[in-house]
Amino acid sequence: MATEKSAVFIIFGGSGDLAHRKLYPAMYSLYKTGVLKDHFAVIGTARRPWSDDYYRSTVIDSLKDFDNDEKAMEDFSKHFFYQSHDVNDSDHYIALKKLASKLDDQFDTGHNRVYYMAIAPRFFGTVAEHINSEGLKTDGYNRLVIEKPFGRSYDSALELNNSLTKTFSESEIYRMDHYLGKYMVQQLTQIRLKNKQFEKSLNKKYISNIQVTLSESLGVEDRGGYYETAGVLRDMVQNHIMQIIGAVAMDEPAKLDSESIHEVKRDVFDSLQDLTPEEVDQNFVRGQYDEDITGSKKAYRDEDNVDPKSNIETFVAGKILLDSERWENVPFYVRSGKRMPAKSSRIDIVYNDSATELGLNPNTTVTFLIEPENGSSILVNGIDYQESNQSLIKFPEKPNYFDHEREAYESLMIDILDGNKIHFTLWDELQNAWKYVDVIRNQWDNETPDFPNYMSNTMGPDAASELLERDGNSWTWDD
Ligand SMILES: NC(=O)c1ccc[n+]([C@@H]2O[C@H](COP(=O)([O-])OP(=O)(O)OC[C@H]3O[C@@H](n4cnc5c(N)ncnc54)[C@H](OP(=O)(O)O)[C@@H]3O)[C@@H](O)[C@H]2O)c1
Repeated sequence: MATEKSAVFIIFGGSGDLAHRKLYPAMYSLYKTGVLKDHFAVIGTARRPWSDDYYRSTVIDSLKDFDNDEKAMEDFSKHFFYQSHDVNDSDHYIALKKLASKLDDQFDTGHNRVYYMAIAPRFFGTVAEHINSEGLKTDGYNRLVIEKPFGRSYDSALELNNSLTKTFSESEIYRMDHYLGKYMVQQLTQIRLKNKQFEKSLNKKYISNIQVTLSESLGVEDRGGYYETAGVLRDMVQNHIMQIIGAVAMDEPAKLDSESIHEVKRDVFDSLQDLTPEEVDQNFVRGQYDEDITGSKKAYRDEDNVDPKSNIETFVAGKILLDSERWENVPFYVRSGKRMPAKSSRIDIVYNDSATELGLNPNTTVTFLIEPENGSSILVNGIDYQESNQSLIKFPEKPNYFDHEREAYESLMIDILDGNKIHFTLWDELQNAWKYVDVIRNQWDNETPDFPNYMSNTMGPDAASELLERDGNSWTWDD
């Protein structure tokens, strides 16, 4: 039986897309399992003048795709309150403080607070500063949850971090990276700790290369305006791909606790091999999608809210090297793009010939299939590991490991309530990731690309395959 948690959640951007698509369904799952029960309340804030009743009806609507238990949804929604609020108005924070204190008493929440920034990034600093100046913090715990993007360069991330840390200490800040909430990414760490043979295999002696692919089949859809300010390098590589590399490449942590795991992860980010502008040109490929072969899918430049001459990249492939004893000269090939043939998030670990010493067949590749969600599994040379004959890589029995696939937000929400920061990004990891990505961005900004350079529904520009072919390698997942 789940242990009940108590807190008042203040959601900035409570009327928005993220809150309705992700946060409310995740909280509802916690409600159904008893993690949230009697001692919690949620204050949704946004400018629009909604009533509590109307807000509750939107919360219920957001759950209808997941459940039809009307009584439970109704009861759950009674914990929700709406406060019309402009992030720039000090008086609104005073009203918010009053409401939060009242709900602390009404629901007996132990004065615990979760402040959730489901709002445009330009407001993160303003909100945090007002939480301080209007004295919203309590004598319970005060946890600040920040959605991506955390800055758009090292300098802007530093500025944001400085403004947040005037109010919240690093230990109170939870930077979301929902890939770290994904089931197979979390399993990777667990399996490494429990399977010594697998752990032993993860180093330059046995590994030819490691491939991380986060592909999408969709284009930018209705997010052209946002994408024009981001591009895939900032949107996927700086955060999700870097964090996955951290999880694969880190040394074995002394313990399965946040401090030990972040200690070894920090070393990975410290060891990112510096790039010269020439190395950016050699080791990184960018692309932008054109129409598909039938002309039925639009080119990126024809999407809504996109500049018809846009040079924003919708595809990136690159080779990342780490300056460490363990991973010397082992390429981490990374790739992310829109309008690729399928949505797939995967880590392919490609073994070299020496891995036969471990009892592996020559040319073995172990794949952690992260997405699509219902396909999460471990494959050995494309076959479910249990059916493969590679008995020396003994992964855990299915029933122990594959019985509960939690939605990433649900799992991360539990971590926030538990004060567990294992699956959140710390500042020192983030700053090194930004410094690395900034070098690529700056080099790209100096040169005009020849876009568009790949058709929709393809694996990206040819240069992405050539990048690996030059090293005598190839992408494991190729359409
Ligand atoms: N949506 C996603 O799937 C997703 C995924 C990852 C990260 N994120 C991040 O999550 C955050 C929210 O994204 P979203 O897609 O939910 O955006 P959204 O749908 O545009 O929601 C923005 C929210 O902010 C409120 N707001 C805007 N201006 C405000 C102001 N001056 N004062 C108070 N409230 C204000 C809006 O309500 P009013 O207009 O009524 O004020 C609305 O509730 C962003 O940082 C985004 O980058 C979103």
